Amino acid sequence: MPLIGPKEMFEAAYAGKFAIGAFNVNNMEIIQGIMLAASEEKSPVILQVSAGARKYAGQRYIMKLVEAALADDPSIPVCVHLDHGPSFEMCRDCIDGGFTSVMIDGSALPYEENIAVTKKVVEYAHPRGVWVEAELGKLAGIEEHVQSAEHQFTDPDQAVDFVEKTGCDSLAVAIGTSHGAYKFKGEAKLDFERLETICKKLPNYPLVLHGASSVPHEFVEECNKYGGAVGDARGVPEDMLRKAASMGVCKINVDTDIRLALTASIRKFMVEHPEAFDPRQYLTPARQAVKMMVARKIRDVMGSSNKIEALKLA
Ligand code: G3H
Ligand code: 13P
Ligand code: ZN
Repeated sequence: MPLIGPKEMFEAAYAGKFAIGAFNVNNMEIIQGIMLAASEEKSPVILQVSAGARKYAGQRYIMKLVEAALADDPSIPVCVHLDHGPSFEMCRDCIDGGFTSVMIDGSALPYEENIAVTKKVVEYAHPRGVWVEAELGKLAGIEEHVQSAEHQFTDPDQAVDFVEKTGCDSLAVAIGTSHGAYKFKGEAKLDFERLETICKKLPNYPLVLHGASSVPHEFVEECNKYGGAVGDARGVPEDMLRKAASMGVCKINVDTDIRLALTASIRKFMVEHPEAFDPRQYLTPARQAVKMMVARKIRDVMGSSNKIEALKLA
């Protein structure tokens, strides 16, 4: 199967009240780990590439790795997506380079400027058959103590106006999640009331949840046990993610959990095998750790296992 856009994935997810996992990729082992999990679970998947990942690995390398993954298991529907595209130019380059979906992140811009840049990307992307995700509202960083700042959360009426004016295909909303491993100081809390209002005002419209890693305890403990200093890391509880998926969140973004799974495994290996220096020795279990984590997430959080037939592909 060739790369596909997220349209059919999100239609199936919305109707079936599940979510598509959007996993950040940086290198071969991460792509392989995710694809092995998707194959095992027979699940559609989004591989997403941040500006930083694109700079690190190179767009061509990533696309060639994805091409190889598709050839390895052609039965898995795969979408390649630009995560947090910072400019029209980067979105254009990714579209021209074969991405089937891009995110333009104008969330830090004044409202009208966010509309303008998003519209510009939509006008370039749509004639080329590419999907556009946009963002409205700001994901708080706990270090800035703006976690509960209401005015940073997505305004439901503004979300309707934004979607109408830009024509974007999906919208990332701010309801209390944040990027990274330190999401909550006290109890985890998401603004589900706000999410419900947005869902009601935008019926049948796919929403996206960023900053949705759960930061599993076992990875943090393993990192710290083997010399790490990850600290008081806390993520989004899995039941909250399942609830969001049942309400209209069709895409759930995960990066931090991949980093933690990979790093915990490598740390453990290094401590237990101080004599080892062949990267294949520690990258093999690290890739397996990514696979196990992603497979469990697909199964128990996204709910997208065995959903390939649910996609109405032409
Ligand atoms: O949303 C951010 C993703 O976790 C990507 O992070 O910019 O460090 O690649 P990055
Ligand atoms: P996490 O940091 O919670 O994994 O979020 C990743 C993300 O939103 C990528 O866009
Ligand atoms: Zn994000």
